[in-house]
Amino acid sequence: MQQKKINIAVDGFSSCGKSTIAKGLAKELGYTYIDSGAMYRAVALYALRNGWLTPEAINEEQLQKHISDMVITFKTNARGEQETYLNGENVEREIRTLEAANGASRISALPFVRRELVRQQQHLGKEKGVVMDGRDIGTVVFPDAELKLFLTASPEVRARRRFDEMKARGEEPLFEEVLANVKERDLRDTTRAESPLRKADDAFELDNSHIGIDEQLQWALDRYYKITANNEQN
Ligand code: DC
Repeated sequence: MQQKKINIAVDGFSSCGKSTIAKGLAKELGYTYIDSGAMYRAVALYALRNGWLTPEAINEEQLQKHISDMVITFKTNARGEQETYLNGENVEREIRTLEAANGASRISALPFVRRELVRQQQHLGKEKGVVMDGRDIGTVVFPDAELKLFLTASPEVRARRRFDEMKARGEEPLFEEVLANVKERDLRDTTRAESPLRKADDAFELDNSHIGIDEQLQWALDRYYKITANNEQN
């Protein structure tokens, strides 16, 4: 019998390995992976390109006026990797810059931006079979998601992961600065007025500071099979 599809929410702090687990689950289950952070980054890119987002200010009036002109979609490339499209243009590389990341962090605090993206995210999940990662997926986007996961790791471990990634890209970061940046983002994510990062009451939590990827994926799959088995019985 074909297993009934569910939605899976994966939330947690930055650099917690959410996308690794979400992509692994999607691959294993034949589900669609959706990176909600990429959507905030795409809006930031649009605003940056139009001069509505500068280091000094955000032109909220223009951004709000044009927010529903932005259509964000995802396509899989020849290597099987998912890429983000903004109004039909592949923007995957551009949204991964530090400028876009910082911009995303700022515009994601605006209520009208969140309202529009949550609407688009809910639309993407309406047929079920979606694994979405982010900050508010289990609390706001899919409060009825059948499976909710919440990942954590110590700030030091997450800073070390980010530090190693930067080194691998040929950058020369200072560990103390990377750690300070992780802590600063944690504070902003958890204290913003609109949809702050918080664990949903019914989410399963995993501190993956000292757990490998295979073990994490197995932990998530065990919860998926338990939940879908219970759903079959009811
Ligand atoms: O996960 P990420 O680093 O790609 O996210 C980019 C920014 O968007 C980050 O500052 C947090 C924000 N974000 C959010 O507010 N809500 C989400 N569901 C996903 C990301």
